[in-house]
Amino acid sequence: MKKKTKKGGKEPEILVIHGPNLNLLGRREPGVYGADTLADVNAAMRGFAAANGLDIEIAQSNSEEKIVGLVQGASRKGFKGIVINPAAFTHYSIAVRDALAATDLPVVEVHLSNIHAREEFRRHSVVAPVAAGQISGFGGFSYILGLMALKDILERTEKKGTKA
Ligand code: DQA
Repeated sequence: MKKKTKKGGKEPEILVIHGPNLNLLGRREPGVYGADTLADVNAAMRGFAAANGLDIEIAQSNSEEKIVGLVQGASRKGFKGIVINPAAFTHYSIAVRDALAATDLPVVEVHLSNIHAREEFRRHSVVAPVAAGQISGFGGFSYILGLMALKDILERTEKKGTKA
């Protein structure tokens, strides 16, 4: 049986976190990140969520402290999983990685660009080892794939839970 969420609905609540500079999407290096704005990406996610029985909340921050706080509070606030594009923090923020390692929620890491086909410093993610998996290189669609992956994880966990 699905647990009721904090809003009283039955949809699993997912927290989507956009890291630094993603507020500039559409204007920021469009050759790399595409022409869609953050509002466009968020609208696509909301559409997917509505059609797939997911309840999502979306946050963007340029601050490491804020992102650590969002991750720390997610479980307590009743979220069931996290989709995160840590942006530049991907490559060096042990604080964001440690917060993700500490949460009991499943985490899916997403990137608009294919970080493995870019500069050397972008090829390493300190977050990847503590995420369920990483999706990279599909533009705004990476987030939809991230939601799909998390939905699947939550459904499989729930099935396991009801069997036990
Ligand atoms: C990014 C890739 C990072 O290397 C970069 O710092 C970003 C965005 C992406 O979505 O492709 O800000 O996470």
